[in-house]
Amino acid sequence: MLINQQEQKSVDLSERHGEWEEEVRRHREIWDRKPILRRIYGRWYRAIRDAALPGRTLEVGGGGGNLKEHWPEILSSDVVYAPWLNFQADCLSLPFADHTFDNVVGVDILHHLFNPDLALREIARVVRPGGRAVFFEPYVSWFSGIVRGRFHHEKQDLSRDVIYGPDKKPEEANLAIPTRLFVRHREEFERRFPMLKIKQIKRTDILAYPLSRGFSGPNLLPGPMLTAIDALEPLLSPLTPWFGFKMLVVLEVLDASR
Ligand SMILES: C[S@@+](CC[C@H](N)C(=O)[O-])C[C@H]1O[C@@H](n2cnc3c(N)ncnc32)[C@H](O)[C@@H]1O
Repeated sequence: MLINQQEQKSVDLSERHGEWEEEVRRHREIWDRKPILRRIYGRWYRAIRDAALPGRTLEVGGGGGNLKEHWPEILSSDVVYAPWLNFQADCLSLPFADHTFDNVVGVDILHHLFNPDLALREIARVVRPGGRAVFFEPYVSWFSGIVRGRFHHEKQDLSRDVIYGPDKKPEEANLAIPTRLFVRHREEFERRFPMLKIKQIKRTDILAYPLSRGFSGPNLLPGPMLTAIDALEPLLSPLTPWFGFKMLVVLEVLDASR
C-alpha cells in the first residue's frame, strides 16, 4: 500500500522522539550487559561491512551507536540526538546533496519507518550511482513468524508495507515490512524502485539470535553452547528461507533520477 508522500511527510513525528530516546538508552544498557548480543551483532556488522563498497558511508537509525563502534569511519545518524552519533537526521529527509555517499547502511531501521518507500528514495538520492544501500533487518519466515508471534512485542503484518494505525498516526513497528518489500513482493519492489537493484538477499540466523532473545528478554543460551551453535549455524543455512529470523539486503543504486 502506498500512501501519498506529501501526506506522510507532513506527519509530525516530534511527539515520538521521547519514546525513541528512551528506546536508544534502553538498547545501550542492554548492549553493555549482554555479551552474546555483541557477538551476534558483530557477525551482522561484518556482513554489512563486507557488502558495502570502500568509501564514504552514512548509517541511518544508528541508535545506540553499536555499528559505529565496529566501524568508526562511518558517519552515524539517527532521528533522535545521541552524543555518540555524528548527527541527528531523519532518513525521510536527509540533509545531504545528491550522490554524497558511496554507501548508506542501516540495522533494524526499515521496519520502524512509517514510510519506508520515501526513505528508500531518499537513500537512493544521497548515494552515488553504482553505490550501495545495505540493511540488516528482521525476516519473517514460517518458523520465525510463529515464534515472534508468541514471544515478541512488535507486530508482524505481512499485509502492509507502511506503518499507520487506525488513527492515521505512525505505529511503533512492523517486523514484516522488509520481508514484504524485498521477498514477498520483489517484483513490485523492482517496479516501484527502478533506481534500486537487489544485488543480494541473504536470510540468516536460525538458532543463536532467537535464543539470545535480542534486546527483548533474558538470554537463553549459555556461553559455551554459543560456540557449538555458531559452528552449526552455517550448516543450517539452506533452511533459512523457512526458519531464518534475519536478512541481509544489499541494493545497488543505479540512477536516482529515474
Ligand atoms: C530498533 S532501533 C535500531 C538501532 C540500531 N541500528 C541498532 O541496531 O541497535 C531503530 C532506530 O531507528 C531510529 N529511527 C526511527 N525513525 C527514524 C527516522 N525517520 N530516521 C532515522 N532514524 C529513525 C530510532 O530512533 C531507533 O534508534
